[in-house]
Amino acid sequence: MMPALSAEEETHSRAVTALIREHVAAAGGWIPFERFMELALYAPGLGYYSAGSVKLGPGGDFATAPEISDLFSRCVAQQCAQVLAGAGEILEVGAGTGRMAAVILERLAALGKLPAQYAILEVSADLAERQRRRLGKLPREIRERVVWLERLPERPINGVILANEVLDALPCRRFTLRGGAARELGAAAEDEPASRRGTGFVEREAAADEELARAVAALLSELPSPLPEGYTSEICLRVAPWIAGIAACLGRGLMLMVDYGLPRAHYYHPQRTAGTLRCHFKQRVHDDPYINIGVQDITAWVDFTRVAEAAVACGLEVGGFCTQAAFLLGTGVEQFVAESTGTVEHARLAGEARRLLLPGEMGEAFKVMALTRDCDVALQGFALQDLRQSL
Ligand SMILES: C[S@@+](CC[C@H](N)C(=O)[O-])C[C@H]1O[C@@H](n2cnc3c(N)ncnc32)[C@H](O)[C@@H]1O
Repeated sequence: MMPALSAEEETHSRAVTALIREHVAAAGGWIPFERFMELALYAPGLGYYSAGSVKLGPGGDFATAPEISDLFSRCVAQQCAQVLAGAGEILEVGAGTGRMAAVILERLAALGKLPAQYAILEVSADLAERQRRRLGKLPREIRERVVWLERLPERPINGVILANEVLDALPCRRFTLRGGAARELGAAAEDEPASRRGTGFVEREAAADEELARAVAALLSELPSPLPEGYTSEICLRVAPWIAGIAACLGRGLMLMVDYGLPRAHYYHPQRTAGTLRCHFKQRVHDDPYINIGVQDITAWVDFTRVAEAAVACGLEVGGFCTQAAFLLGTGVEQFVAESTGTVEHARLAGEARRLLLPGEMGEAFKVMALTRDCDVALQGFALQDLRQSL
């Protein structure tokens, strides 16, 4: 059973729905899914990420690895320490509640490897405020290094760029195959908007524009097996410009991305006929983006082959690609748990580690990719597994 919306959520969802219906009407009755997702998540002042719902953590809609356990962030800090080697900066994109930033900074301080600056680029004003409150509690020597950016920096970052569960939040296109070619899926206004909870939209197909048609044709030509009629999936064409923007500001060092995703041949597997789109609402996961509009998260898995191609096109190297489990084991998660033996924390940490590591939990679905420029460090997080051949 889907939890009910509070009165406040109901009001908010109606406002977001009304806004999107205006866009649909202005566009002649239909908008591509990508535009629907963009408005539902990022419409100024109204979208899920732009407005004030709790989103992450207890009482929110979903839990990310840094919210589940600080072990995750301590492992990321180990990888940062190796690359920073006493100098450099960190830029985190999409920092959520700021919990990962806080733990990384504390760990780097303990190792004597604090970055000169820890910059955060955050699209959500509400989350940026939560980050400020959280990081404002750190000791002065640490918190003084944290800055918030409005846009990607123009001067190069030498050090580490981090993005945990950000790529999956980029608006994506949805398509379905008819006669071997793509048709685009999108949102049309329902005649009876009150007929379903908080909604007013139905999914409809339309002719694919040239960009989508070309991208899906290229995809189909590369896949090892043909895809069946009616196959439906997502393709995120915003990955390349997003990576290009990041690549342009990475002077020297590492970009580390963590997300649920797959190499292309697995992502577009013939049996995955309904795609990877997922919605998160009060810790429930489902696949209907046309309910709870503006008060639920909408995500799609990441095609890591697309990320790697975009990075290489910008002159970056793919320095590593592995499962989250392999990355955490490579950066010492077992040792962090072992260090707590005999303390009251031990059982809790051991349980959290299992959630981060087990294949049925986050261990395999989540992948970690390292993109590097002029970085000759043998990255600790990728020492145990190298999945780059699968890309
Ligand atoms: C799923 S949350 C993950 C938060 C955090 N990294 C964590 O793991 O807990 C996605 C985050 O990315 C931010 N975000 C989404 N799109 C973004 C973009 N284009 N640039 C910067 N931040 C973005 C959201 O506001 C949010 O902070």
